[in-house]
Amino acid sequence: MGMSYETQAGLEGGRSFHIRTYGCQMNVHDSEKIANLLAHAGFAENPEDEDADLLIVNTCSIREKAEHRLYTDLGRLRAWKERRPGRLLGVAGCVAQQEGDGILRRFPTVDFVCGTHNLRWVPAMVAAAEQGRRSLRTEEDPSRARFELPERHPGLASPTPGRAFVTVMEGCDMFCSFCIVPTTRGREVSRSAASIVDEVRALADRGVVEVTLLGQTVNAYGRHDLRRGRADDQGTTGFADLLAALDAVPGIERIRYTSPHPIFFDDALIDAHGGLTSLCPHVHLPVQSGSDAVLEAMRRRYRGDEVRALVERLRTARPDLALTTDLIVGFPGESDADFEATLELVRDAGFVDSYSFKYSPRPGTRAAELPEAVAPERAQERLEALQELQRAQTLAAHRARVGSETEVLVEGASRRGDQRSGRDPYHRVVNLAGPAEPGPGPGARVAVQIVEATPHSLIGELSPAAVPR
Ligand code: 5AD
Ligand code: SF4
Repeated sequence: MGMSYETQAGLEGGRSFHIRTYGCQMNVHDSEKIANLLAHAGFAENPEDEDADLLIVNTCSIREKAEHRLYTDLGRLRAWKERRPGRLLGVAGCVAQQEGDGILRRFPTVDFVCGTHNLRWVPAMVAAAEQGRRSLRTEEDPSRARFELPERHPGLASPTPGRAFVTVMEGCDMFCSFCIVPTTRGREVSRSAASIVDEVRALADRGVVEVTLLGQTVNAYGRHDLRRGRADDQGTTGFADLLAALDAVPGIERIRYTSPHPIFFDDALIDAHGGLTSLCPHVHLPVQSGSDAVLEAMRRRYRGDEVRALVERLRTARPDLALTTDLIVGFPGESDADFEATLELVRDAGFVDSYSFKYSPRPGTRAAELPEAVAPERAQERLEALQELQRAQTLAAHRARVGSETEVLVEGASRRGDQRSGRDPYHRVVNLAGPAEPGPGPGARVAVQIVEATPHSLIGELSPAAVPR
């Protein structure tokens, strides 16, 4: 990727930063926000942590393994810091929010710890660290102030031409029994619709054609304000109304959102999938389990059959809809029959892809107190069986697409590096046959015919009549 003039100048002269990001798309976007704040403070982004003056680890605590990465990193980063005096090290994200002060106490190399509500304080914390002062900001901020950040700095190279994340709400009030997110991300707060529309307009002006709306329970957008009769003064709306407002923004061709909760699909949102031309025909619908007993124990507040009914309504609104999901196996008390019910739901819903995880107890959550842990070998077997079913289902769905036409938003080189790759409206990865150059580059939308299916992606050829748009 080409470096901007400012980045190069930064490498030679000014101070540079690198952010190492773990976890979900919300975290990836938080790293973008931190990068933007630092760019405004005169720092240059550095593609390599090895050369950077400032390193921030943006952490995830969704499962034990993710959390553990931070501690492995911090051990290794002692040497990184010692190699160049004056280097600074910060920890942000969900582990920062949760462990706060504990990180400063346990790791003398860490200069600052910034929680999930306090991103805008990063430049000040860096300035303090430069004066030799260590700092911590993990207080919860229930206001909307944290959504109001400076506009995108012109010197930041876009990591994904044509596409951008946009935060619409943050936090989670659902308290599913397995999940640490309500602790690490705090209470649900929705951003004002006007501020979201402004950001999307500004992105469109810079050539962004695809926006992914982010929120821990993104389709709960505005619900608290509506219920309390405060939507007008807070400037929020229902989620479907927000989608309609964004659909009307000139230049925005694709709208996605992640992750929704199954119980917040109202009629308006389902209808939106039939009516809004820029709303992509893909929904990532985390269902977690297909067993009613397990869903109850997870406090998910829906049953397997309600998911089936929702899927049917979504497909009625949008027959070609692609559905993907998240699933947990080995939740405490999960029996063979419970697990079978999950397999059955995966088949019935026809998920084209899924992310599946072994249950990982998170200290402080309700499920962490539950007896009847599933044996690790049993959980592993279930994970493998689930993934085998999914692989077959994914491949079948991909094969069914061979011969069809679609549109690909080119992202860059494929994983193997020799082809162009991008995503279609269904969020499937499509690798384009033929060399990566010349031809339409990152950010271009091209008409493609699917010619081959693999278990992980589709292979497409530029349609004969295709002119890059
Ligand atoms: N153990 C395993 N998986 C989890 N997830 C959330 N919490 C846990 C946990 N304690 C999964 C859910 C969620 C995804 C982001 O991570 O499937 O949808
Ligand atoms: Fe990980 Fe959840 Fe935090 Fe995202 S919100 S970084 S998935 S713990």
